[in-house]
Amino acid sequence: ATVYLKDYQPPAWQIEAVELEFDLDPQATRVRSRLQFRRAPETGPDTPLHLDGEALELLGIALDGEPLTADRYRLDEAGLEVRGLPETGVLEIETRINPSANTELSGLYTSSGNFCTQCEAEGFRRITFYPDRPDVMARFTTTLRADKVATPVLLSNGNPIASGELEDGRHYVTWQDPFPKPCYLFALVAGDLGWIRDRFVTRSGREVDLYIYVQKHNLDKCDHAMASLKHAMRWDEEVYGREYDLDRYMIVAVDDFNMGAMENKGLNVFNSRYVLARPDTATDADYQNIESVIGHEYFHNWSGNRVTCRDWFQLSLKEGFTVFRDQEFSSDMNSRGVQRIGDVNILRTHQFREDAGPMAHPVKPDHYVAIDNFYTVTVYNKGAEVVRMLHTLLGTEGFRRGCDLYFERHDGQAVTTDDFVNAMEAATGVSLQQFRRWYDQAGTPELELERHYDPQARTCALTLRQHCPPTPGQSDKQPFHIPVAMGLCDREGRALPLRLYGEAAAGGESRVLELCREEETFVFQDIPAEPVPVLLRGFSAPVKLALDYTDAELALLSAHERDPFCRWEAGQTLARRLLLTHPPQALDADTARPLIEAARRTLADTALDPALRALALTLPAEGYLAEFVDPIEPEQLHTARQALRLTLSRALRPDLEACYEQLTETGAYSPDAASAGRRRLRNLCLSYLIACEDDSAYQLALRQYEQAGNMTDSLAALQALVNSDCPQREAVLEDFYSRWQQDTLVVDKWLSLQATADRADTLERVQALTGHPAFSLTNPNKVYALLRAFAQGNPVGFHQASGAGYRFIGEQIRTLDGRNPQVASRLAAAFTDWRRYNPTRQAGMRTELEKMRDAGGVSRDLYEIAARSLGDD
Ligand code: ARG
Ligand code: ZN
Repeated sequence: ATVYLKDYQPPAWQIEAVELEFDLDPQATRVRSRLQFRRAPETGPDTPLHLDGEALELLGIALDGEPLTADRYRLDEAGLEVRGLPETGVLEIETRINPSANTELSGLYTSSGNFCTQCEAEGFRRITFYPDRPDVMARFTTTLRADKVATPVLLSNGNPIASGELEDGRHYVTWQDPFPKPCYLFALVAGDLGWIRDRFVTRSGREVDLYIYVQKHNLDKCDHAMASLKHAMRWDEEVYGREYDLDRYMIVAVDDFNMGAMENKGLNVFNSRYVLARPDTATDADYQNIESVIGHEYFHNWSGNRVTCRDWFQLSLKEGFTVFRDQEFSSDMNSRGVQRIGDVNILRTHQFREDAGPMAHPVKPDHYVAIDNFYTVTVYNKGAEVVRMLHTLLGTEGFRRGCDLYFERHDGQAVTTDDFVNAMEAATGVSLQQFRRWYDQAGTPELELERHYDPQARTCALTLRQHCPPTPGQSDKQPFHIPVAMGLCDREGRALPLRLYGEAAAGGESRVLELCREEETFVFQDIPAEPVPVLLRGFSAPVKLALDYTDAELALLSAHERDPFCRWEAGQTLARRLLLTHPPQALDADTARPLIEAARRTLADTALDPALRALALTLPAEGYLAEFVDPIEPEQLHTARQALRLTLSRALRPDLEACYEQLTETGAYSPDAASAGRRRLRNLCLSYLIACEDDSAYQLALRQYEQAGNMTDSLAALQALVNSDCPQREAVLEDFYSRWQQDTLVVDKWLSLQATADRADTLERVQALTGHPAFSLTNPNKVYALLRAFAQGNPVGFHQASGAGYRFIGEQIRTLDGRNPQVASRLAAAFTDWRRYNPTRQAGMRTELEKMRDAGGVSRDLYEIAARSLGDD
């Protein structure tokens, strides 16, 4: 059944307080709940109370102490309906659930023998009968009882208020969360866990105890997460004026988790890959991701928990905003330019693709079948871009005033994206009427620039035109309000002062043009010679921009532009043009000369941040190139990219070797941005060098593999070898596994390397690995590491002409759907773009989608992805 935003109704009943009691047992956990309910003032007296419930065994139900007779309630698949209730009262409900049989990992489940929960979006209904919607907010008190030896640690939201011993070797702890919250923020964790502890003093002097709980063998991998947490707490105070509000903040790492992490009030539950790090087991990217996800979940305490969502259509209210916050946090902790380029890359390779396909939906979707399908790059990353545009339009101070007002107005409430924009308007006086379309219209706007220089008048006229292609259900779009940060430079790359027609004086060398109509012309004055316009500095809007730059202009910008994003983008455009306009065999040193020379300068430019140099030297990803061709021919894109890589490698060999040697470091590992940047550039050099496929390059990689003092260098060497014809490649892979088979997160890396290997037999290898003891279909990380890495990270393998890749992944998805629909439907994303391929591939992909859609007992999640992709929606 489809849920529509237009059908939203406020809750008829509120729950003011909940008392929960859990008698924890892996197979039969008893849950008693006491719900203090109150009828909403607008609600008629005969209105029944609806409680959601799924996969629950109802053991008893009573009203104000009296058992309810069967005629007072009705039980069906969706839940419980109770009739004839007084205006207020207490409903007591007892249910039984089986955590160890919960393979969906939604609700209460077990992971490595410990109990944990995941309630967002609709998992609480799998724990007990309850109005499972975010606009019902209650105070929770939770008592956990369990065996003292098997389950010494008992955690829930808030503060512990009582604990003690029970008979039969059991014990209990009672937790109280003083903040009313929706049930999706409820959490409990129980088990035999170790912890590290630290302390943070907020700027108003509140002492907060910080805990990270992990399986005991991981206790030596928690320090980076703890440091990241303290940085995040300080940053939110400094940048947003937001303080933490409870006496303790707890983070728990679990190995079995569908998503990244969850911001449950005071008790975050994390996928262990976003907590655990040690130099020899985690890469620089892992360290970065941990800092960012720890920050993300912490920032949710305000943007999500203190102010939450009215309904799930508003998901981006908390996710878009919080992603923006975590991106800015990472920028401040590391390198802003590198962070921005990385974020833009994710947006353009994944979100633009989503926006152009059958799953396209607005940042605020207007209908869904399974809400878990809408935890998307559009809601998260495009949502963050929308908040970023607000920041650009209002300025740092205006934006901050808007945020302050938003938190002040709505603290303790469940609100909408409109409330957020209203606060921004009210705090700044800026009209955002048209800007709101970013929330409602799907699709990526396309921007076109026409430039005209008039030497007599010394004016430069820039005409910007916008257009947004149709998306499912939205054939006509209204123009967007688009901030275009820009500048003009002369033919030496020097910035020119900007004075728009009608302005008395120049207003700096960078400014934000606001494009609101379909077409607008901006005329700049006092321009001595034809300038080079630089548009979308910092990628100021999530749009596609078509520019008619000459190669010489691109070369100029890639050498001189001061904005790291635009500078990088100019080089990428140059490379993309080469890749898309020449057949692979023509991508020789002559054709690639300008790119080779630019790369040579970049390699030698020791004044430039090594991470930015690495980004400049990385060729556009195949997934990004695919946006520019129709149909997508995966092996063609791959062959072209490999050919250009080889050409660069041959032409730049001495430069690459010199750069590699120069960046060789000894000494203790540090994950800081500067060190990570040097490793990134050095490992990029290695990957170019090995493209030549000769023994000296192999020896270099083998030596690095053997001598590496950290996982970043060791994995980079292994990856280079695995994608080469080096005779020792199998031996090194085996060595890596035997060294790390006890460490499940490192084994994930080993699986991914093989799934993305550039080899003819990768599919057979992946198929064989599904039977390897290292793999398990019940652990989401393993599925992502092997199957998703193959389906989405190995286009050549997945899209092989025989269709064998499709059949294999399709079959895995159908098997998985019976156990864990959320993971199955995420894997199915590999098929949604089927219309972008040639007819043979289309047929192969469509067949799999039809099998998914038509399978008996298909989950709502998978059904929705398959049906939407096929266009039945
Ligand atoms: N709110 C979590 C976050 O920080 C994501 C949890 C989503 N879980 C799910 N099953 N849909 O982004
Ligand atoms: Zn989030």
